[in-house]
Amino acid sequence: MPQIQTIAAEKVLGFRGQETIEVTVTDECGLAGEFRVPFGKSEGMFEAMYVAPDQAVKICNETLNQLLHGFDPENQRVLDNTMIQADATPQKKNFGGNAILGISIACSRLAAREQGIALYQHLGNIINKRVSTHGPFPRMLYNLVEGGVHAQNNLAFQEHLIIPKVNSLNQQIEILKSFSQAFMQYAKTLGWNKAYGYEGGWAGNITKDGVILFGQDAEYAVFEALDAVRTQNDFPVDFGLDVAANNIAKFEPSSYCDFYVKCAKDFPITYLEDGFAEQEQDEWWKMLYGKIHHTTLMVGDDLTVTNPRKMDAYIGKNMINAIIIKPDQVGTLSETFDAIEKAKQNNWRVIISHRSQETTDDYLADLAVAVKADFVKFGAFAQGERLAKYNRLLEIEQ
Ligand code: PGA
Ligand code: ZN
Repeated sequence: MPQIQTIAAEKVLGFRGQETIEVTVTDECGLAGEFRVPFGKSEGMFEAMYVAPDQAVKICNETLNQLLHGFDPENQRVLDNTMIQADATPQKKNFGGNAILGISIACSRLAAREQGIALYQHLGNIINKRVSTHGPFPRMLYNLVEGGVHAQNNLAFQEHLIIPKVNSLNQQIEILKSFSQAFMQYAKTLGWNKAYGYEGGWAGNITKDGVILFGQDAEYAVFEALDAVRTQNDFPVDFGLDVAANNIAKFEPSSYCDFYVKCAKDFPITYLEDGFAEQEQDEWWKMLYGKIHHTTLMVGDDLTVTNPRKMDAYIGKNMINAIIIKPDQVGTLSETFDAIEKAKQNNWRVIISHRSQETTDDYLADLAVAVKADFVKFGAFAQGERLAKYNRLLEIEQ
């Protein structure tokens, strides 16, 4: 395959006009691959470090441009390992996870173009050599009601998710559109104000008889409303929750553990992400797992940070049975594939997820299809950053 000729990064605008980087890798024939790097607001402690965009641009254009000159872009593992070794820190502190990932993913796009195949086919070829990826199209975890650090309302939990119980992409979209509309109407009848969160979901205040609710009362009221909408319209959906417990200041594990169990009993909640903070004792995760894992997926995000080495601590421990995959958490495509492979080998469900602070790059849709992810988490049907990924899924399906 043609060799890498130049690596060039530049600053671009991402979510709400914040600066991030776009990396373009060009080969000796003039073909190019690119990637615009997202970042998070609700981060795990062991994520790859994000260096300031100016510095990341310089690192890409100088150090990494020299380091990878003449490499084969199809040889993903060699490229990624070369950058990992040259950086030589566990959290990619020297070059930055954003600089390294920008190159890593741009190379995979270039390799697909060199072969004249679709990106999802190229990514599928990489992972298919290692794991079986049979399975239907991913299902959506749709962020309908936002709270926590992604909103300015009185909800502590970050994402209240709607999960259609069908696999057809078009049917999922129809159900989610109708559900959202019905929910907005219903929220209005309850006197709940209209506001929106980071990912385009509804983020008003939760009240009862005009009085603002707090803590678990507010959370429970959200699920009561969602369930009223579900049953009145006979929508084939389940519910999910990303608590993002790392960000909740007064978090009492025993009280929240009981609350999750009650909610999973009262409502069809089949998904629970980061129900405890990553530093919380394993015993809480295990206790909750024992109580709800037959009905509800126990999902690690900040806990596992897409990092195969972090995952090792939770395998066979009956704490989680599903994992969020965000390539920027770990910083290379190869390590992302290792995390997916490890999850599948241990029968954990795989969720390909965007960040709250996204760009309009649609790479994640190809990744989700290629690895036959169980779910995708791409936010609401709003904002170009979210729509780009949904539209790419549609394009691939068609
Ligand atoms: P972030 O949050 O992208 O703001 O880090 C998303 C999540 O917690 O799933
Ligand atoms: Zn999360």
